[in-house]
Amino acid sequence: MFIGLDLGTSSLKAILIDDQQRVLAEHSVPLSVERPHDGWSEQNAASWFKAADAALSALAATVDCSTVTGIGLSGHMHGATLFDEADKPLRPCMLWNDTRSHKEAAEMDADPQFRSITGNIVFPGFTAPKVAWVRKHEPQIFEQIAKILLPKDALRLYLTGGHVSEMSDAAGTAWFDTGRRDWSDPLLEACGLGRDQMPALVEGSAPSGKLRPALAQVLGAKDVTVAGGAGDNAAAAIGAGVVKDGSAFLSLGTSGVLFAANDGYRPDPASAVHSFCHAVPDTWHQMGVILAATDALEWLSRLTGKSAAALTADLGRLQAPSTTLFLPYLGGERTPHNDARIRGQFLHLDHATDASTAARAVLEGVAFAFADCRDALASTGTKIAEALALGGGSKSGYWLDVLATALDFPLHLPVAGDYGAAIGAARLGMMAATGADVGIATPPPIAHTHMPDASLVPAFAESHARYRHAYSVLRDL
Ligand code: XUL
Repeated sequence: MFIGLDLGTSSLKAILIDDQQRVLAEHSVPLSVERPHDGWSEQNAASWFKAADAALSALAATVDCSTVTGIGLSGHMHGATLFDEADKPLRPCMLWNDTRSHKEAAEMDADPQFRSITGNIVFPGFTAPKVAWVRKHEPQIFEQIAKILLPKDALRLYLTGGHVSEMSDAAGTAWFDTGRRDWSDPLLEACGLGRDQMPALVEGSAPSGKLRPALAQVLGAKDVTVAGGAGDNAAAAIGAGVVKDGSAFLSLGTSGVLFAANDGYRPDPASAVHSFCHAVPDTWHQMGVILAATDALEWLSRLTGKSAAALTADLGRLQAPSTTLFLPYLGGERTPHNDARIRGQFLHLDHATDASTAARAVLEGVAFAFADCRDALASTGTKIAEALALGGGSKSGYWLDVLATALDFPLHLPVAGDYGAAIGAARLGMMAATGADVGIATPPPIAHTHMPDASLVPAFAESHARYRHAYSVLRDL
């Protein structure tokens, strides 16, 4: 049996599968995000460790886990978790959607070696500029840094006692030579850091260490291999069988991701597309990332006092796009704008605008942000013809109709089940423990395909053009 642990932004999810990849048990533990200042977003590593304890105990309470031999890890990417010599966290982890370090990011991005070595823009959400912010604003903490770990690698330290990362997550730090799959000494040096402060590297499907005996005991298991695992997007791709060149998924989670697997390394930083390593050897991937997807709907839900499900329940058949326009930049944006300062906008409100119109505008605004990602990927030569729809937001059929029509390609919704990062992590655990190859990462059966509504494609394209124009006018306000 194998376990996948996915450290998400809003919960840690554990899933248990058998040798046939049948799901035997799952358990989620909620996590909270602290936002003490505009643009800040933090979590305490201790809450991840507690959540992992609770999740493993819950699995063991449901099913006999004594034959578990592999665990895979997945987690939200880019977070800077800083540890001292005694492996104690020095401050709360600054998360992927923390944009306070936009000045430091712009400074690094102006040094051409960052783009040429990493294949990416230095986004404020990435790890390196966050540590540069700490160097500037909390120098006494910077001085004590013995190891810098990504969130799921900090969880690995708790689980195994080892300092190890893997290629897919390391590629999102801005200290990584993505083509060569190794840390970049010149980039670390440019940040006042050294390789000794970085974890060792393995491939996501390779072993990274063993589960500590005390935790193995919680499972009643003896010898449990912990796989390298992956950043949550690469892990979701393994869970959904998105590995072959040209295959793609769209994820409607807290963040929004349009992900395409590549058989080679195809960087194009100018497009603001992310080019990272995949979780298995010799593969890479590209993605466009928007910072608020379901988060935008959650925001409207808090504002109106209506649940996200209630806001989207009565929308009926797909309607022409609303004249009310929503720009979902609540915490800034990555692809294609790399703009940490922009914030969300509602435009063209009138006396008749009610919560339902506002909800439609939010769903459409997120879809237009995805259309921007589609165009950014296309500008690098990656044309997506169809994609799997994943993530919590894909429960809304209306949203998938909006997305398929705004993107003008079909979206395949898998049958009910788990195809996300947790199952991908469990599959990586299986590969590391048994030597199974990537062939076990099969795509899910499809329940329903959301086709673009040809009669509305031109209207959505027109609204997307309005949306783009609105950003260009508003960005300086
Ligand atoms: C990807 C990104 C997010 C996080 C959180 O670059 O920042 O998708 O991994 O899910």
